[in-house]
Amino acid sequence: MNVLIVDTTSARAHAEAWLANESPHTNRLWTTQRSDLVQNIADLAIDKSGEHLLHTDPEGVAEFARNNNIDLAIVSQEDALLAGTSDALTEYGIAVFGPSQKAAEVETSKVFSKELMVKTGQPTADFVVCKTYDEAIKYATPRATFENPLYSKRDRPARGKGVDKITCLDDLHKALMPITDIENDFSLTQRVILEKGLVGFEIGLHAWVNGRDYVMYPFAMVDHKTVDENDEGSMTGGMGVVAPAPGIAVDDIEKLGRQFVAPTINELYESGRSFTGVLYSGLILTAEGPMKLEDNARPGDPETQVWAPLLDTDKSDFIEIALACSQDRLSELPEIHWRKAASTCLILAARGYPDATEAGQVITGLKDIDDNLARVFDYGTRIDEEGNYIANAGRSLSVGRTAYKGESLEVVLEENYEAASRIKFDGERPVMRGDVGKKVLSTEFKQRVKDTRHLF
Ligand code: GLY
Repeated sequence: MNVLIVDTTSARAHAEAWLANESPHTNRLWTTQRSDLVQNIADLAIDKSGEHLLHTDPEGVAEFARNNNIDLAIVSQEDALLAGTSDALTEYGIAVFGPSQKAAEVETSKVFSKELMVKTGQPTADFVVCKTYDEAIKYATPRATFENPLYSKRDRPARGKGVDKITCLDDLHKALMPITDIENDFSLTQRVILEKGLVGFEIGLHAWVNGRDYVMYPFAMVDHKTVDENDEGSMTGGMGVVAPAPGIAVDDIEKLGRQFVAPTINELYESGRSFTGVLYSGLILTAEGPMKLEDNARPGDPETQVWAPLLDTDKSDFIEIALACSQDRLSELPEIHWRKAASTCLILAARGYPDATEAGQVITGLKDIDDNLARVFDYGTRIDEEGNYIANAGRSLSVGRTAYKGESLEVVLEENYEAASRIKFDGERPVMRGDVGKKVLSTEFKQRVKDTRHLF
């Protein structure tokens, strides 16, 4: 089969290409991600004008797919989904693993997503939808405090910049100013949700989805979303993931799936937005039980760098699963097998990330890392004329480790940090969190699961 991966701006695309390349069904593999490392296993998709194919150009992607006899397109990036890339491919008769623009609204419209949670009775934080600056200020005035922050969420995705913690009116002002029409009526250029902050432990669930059918990944993953340790600093796409979240058994995952995945996909189906692809639901384990924070219409980044090595590719094939979903056959697939192992990844980001990141740092140490030590997925690395590896801006590398020999999560994390410490950007430690996994390995996390699992 000829396979096209439409996913450009993260190491997730490399992990997907790696999985697709492992499949005996893949004949030729293309990707929209430009990276000299990824191009070892997948060809860069080029549009008809000779330029790098844009994931947000639905017609261009569909035309490329038709001209190159693509049998399966995997669309995993939210702005590609928002642009309608899956829809254009479907119209051209190409099998697509990735939801339509309408189904992807479960992620791309925060208002749609929250309203769906309420309609289907899924526990979630209290919220209001604001259309003007004044409405938002009025709601936040008695409510936003340092001890009890609110969170503002713009309706449309903003590449990790759409969610802000609001502890005072000044925070709200800063969050809303870029989207406030100050010249006229102080309306907002897009709706904004203000929601109550919840206290607890965040986990992520993933499910393969095809209409009303779904299959849960049998483990929960834990991401670390802020750039600084102790969950402080600016929000990022994620700085490191560990799996499985300790104490959460397969039975728990199934129960959480019935509570948080089934209602979402059934409602999408009933309302004519049948979902195909990976649904990634972000939950928080509060003292009152699990609540939903968000849904994502694609696999997580960097979660994919952690689950890809866990899929037991000797028995279960990524391309077969993706094709079955795209052809409405998920329910006919045999059981999906996973390796029962701990898996982790650490993100190594370029200087200045996330607020003022720059491309061009020289990466050293990478050549010494082989698959026995760690699995490296990258975003946009170049190899220059002298053979130096040049880092892209942003979350340039994902360095991960999987316990193929049955090591514990603690040991895997230690080894992951050891491997990552060999890599330098311009001779220095890249932007990297030093506390990935600390919270999830704490007794508080395990206690919270124990105390609340009857509410799953
Ligand atoms: N890891 C968070 C996300 O993919 O949205």
